[in-house]
Amino acid sequence: MSAVTLSNIVKRFGTFTAVHRTTLEIPEGAFVTLLGPSGCGKTTNLRMIAGLLDPTEGEILIGGKRVNDVPIHKRNLGLVFQNYALFPHKTVAENVAFGLKYRNVPKSEIAAKVRDALDLVQLPHVGDRYPKALSGGQQQRIALARAIVIEPDVLLLDEPLSALDANLREDMRVELKRIQERIGVTTVFVTHDQSEALAMSDLIVVMSEGRVEQVGKPEEVYNTPATEFVANFLGASNIFDARCVEHGATVVVEDVVFGRVTVPATKAPNLMGTGPAKLVVRAEKLKLARDAAPEGVISVPATVETVDYQGQAVRYFVRAGEAQLQAINMIDDHPFAVGAAVHLHLRPQDCAALPG
Ligand SMILES: Nc1ncnc2c1ncn2[C@@H]1O[C@H](COP(=O)(O)OP(=O)(O)OP(=O)(O)O)[C@@H](O)[C@H]1O
Ligand SMILES: [Mg+2]
Repeated sequence: MSAVTLSNIVKRFGTFTAVHRTTLEIPEGAFVTLLGPSGCGKTTNLRMIAGLLDPTEGEILIGGKRVNDVPIHKRNLGLVFQNYALFPHKTVAENVAFGLKYRNVPKSEIAAKVRDALDLVQLPHVGDRYPKALSGGQQQRIALARAIVIEPDVLLLDEPLSALDANLREDMRVELKRIQERIGVTTVFVTHDQSEALAMSDLIVVMSEGRVEQVGKPEEVYNTPATEFVANFLGASNIFDARCVEHGATVVVEDVVFGRVTVPATKAPNLMGTGPAKLVVRAEKLKLARDAAPEGVISVPATVETVDYQGQAVRYFVRAGEAQLQAINMIDDHPFAVGAAVHLHLRPQDCAALPG
């Protein structure tokens, strides 16, 4: 059963439509991420689930029950926002206990639950401190403890890691995922950071301009993007105008750079027949080599134009005829230099195709 359902939801602010007709199922116990660029409607969707905003049209169900008319404090949700400040004049323990007191949980139980929640976020000894005596990362953990101590039906997280510096952010995402798995709470997580979404999610909902572009497991949205937007937003892609010339057990796509490419049908699920198409080549699937490729691998001569050294990997911009392409390769040897004549190797099974 789905824990949260958005059914035909529309949200308008005056004449502006922030969320176009959206239907979405959040499975019980899943970690689901709303991913998309700034302004695409992620927070708006989350606030409607929370009860902080009313949808203009459509229904929201939590645990199978319609909640459009249920106020936020009766929805039993845990909320953590980017700057969901702790109460500065309450201690950490009082902050975490807040939702329990509000629910009239007996005092004797509150102390034990607060202790468990602080253990879970690995800050067992800070209960007597005030928020200002904690680092940003610690404060975010306390905000998380405060959200989960009430045993919410759904945890709603709006960019909870974005105020943290890069290293701490990576540690915290592992930590957050561990906690979510441990307590098994259905979680809706909002981010515009694709690596965060890929690392943490059971399901990713890719959004653009108030619409859902694709819903899938991380490897599905990454390897089989449903739209050009998804192919560009997740990872680095080369996308070419092409023509589908055979559409059946095999899908053959022709473009000016690679010629005839036989794309697995599973990687062209939205291509309905022959005609205009797009060929999608992930930057990391395009390998630079000194020599032409062996049988079964496409090989195209090219010239290196730009070398962007990134440590473990290098991003090349190369020219093949009229086309400029990007390739991201691991460095096992010396990187190629600007001006080098190379061969681009591409396995056809690594390509995807979209409707043109
Ligand atoms: N109260 C409001 N009144 C008018 N427009 C609003 C209101 N709230 C949001 N919007 C608009 O709705 C759109 C979606 O906003 P939303 O906050 O959901 O985006 P977001 O995907 O969370 O972006 P970000 O990544 O920047 O947080 C934006 O264009 C925003 O300007
Ligand atoms: Mg937002």
